[in-house]
Amino acid sequence: MNAAIGSLVKVAIARNHDILGVRDGLSGLMEGWFKPLSRADVEGISRLGGTILGSARAKQFYEESGRDRARAQLAEAGVEGLVVIGGNGSLTGAHKLGEKGPCRVIGLPASIDNDIGHTLTAIGVDTAINTIVEACDRITDTATAHRRAFIVEVMGRDSGFLAMRAGLAGEADAILYGESGRSAEDIIAHVRAVIRRSFAPDRNKRRVLIVKAEGVAIPTSELVARLSEHVEEDAPGVEIRETVLGHVVRGGRPSQADRVVAQRLAFGAVLALETGAHDVMMGWEVPGGHGTPTRDSRVRMVPIADVLDETRRLIDGTSPVTQARIALIKQGEAMELM
Ligand code: F6P
Repeated sequence: MNAAIGSLVKVAIARNHDILGVRDGLSGLMEGWFKPLSRADVEGISRLGGTILGSARAKQFYEESGRDRARAQLAEAGVEGLVVIGGNGSLTGAHKLGEKGPCRVIGLPASIDNDIGHTLTAIGVDTAINTIVEACDRITDTATAHRRAFIVEVMGRDSGFLAMRAGLAGEADAILYGESGRSAEDIIAHVRAVIRRSFAPDRNKRRVLIVKAEGVAIPTSELVARLSEHVEEDAPGVEIRETVLGHVVRGGRPSQADRVVAQRLAFGAVLALETGAHDVMMGWEVPGGHGTPTRDSRVRMVPIADVLDETRRLIDGTSPVTQARIALIKQGEAMELM
């Protein structure tokens, strides 16, 4: 997100706009915590994780009274355009705020979950995947040494994307994601089969890595407990362990890919505001080419209402994007690569 903030500031100043930063996200918007930002304020921040402006979950913003407070603050400060950087909650807030002014609103997708509609990726996703893959590689070292099975749980809320992508890159033996609709019993049966097959004498495997999304039907500790009940029968001598990566995945030095995506989306946002765009999100390599093209061939403008609709389909599994992701994993399963 810092790369986006830095780029917004630099591009806006270069194009003769004044720019304010809002401290602590939507909460700060309601409180009027605005401060002018200069080039010096943002120099070199792309390499920093998190956000120099701070962020907050702001329940009051989801009520009209909260948004009215924000509108009054924006009007008093003479703001003409607001760029909201965040996930589905923030984009929903931006969309609702924009219904009644007082300024134009543009969204930039930022969430490690990659559950935002009409954008191939969101700011933070690539860094999060790289962190998970690195963790899986490290776990593989110890799992291989001790001949163990590891269940690694990764964040993602209701989205299995991080587990899917990191699981493929980390050569997981199974990837568990909520969009599969598998019941807890199905999941246990599936993982037991993977453990049995992987540790069978003819396979000569020394580690099993299962990457599990947090949105999966069965809690990780329960899954491990249930698997452990059968492990002597399924894979004698093997132990099962769990690692929950949690918030470790949400910080750290941003990857170059994340920085460049953030910079280019931010550049597009400033230009979009200048042309009068409102209530749109800048999307990266928008699947299916929905929305309006911009000067940057990778960036398109998509109405936030459409983004929120597609988001629902991504999560309930009816979006072609989710179906393509699942098909990729099923191909791997079918070839017994996992
Ligand atoms: O949406 C990003 C995310 O990190 C999810 O992956 C996770 O479920 C949630 O936020 C955690 O939220 P919090 O930091 O409030 O516990």
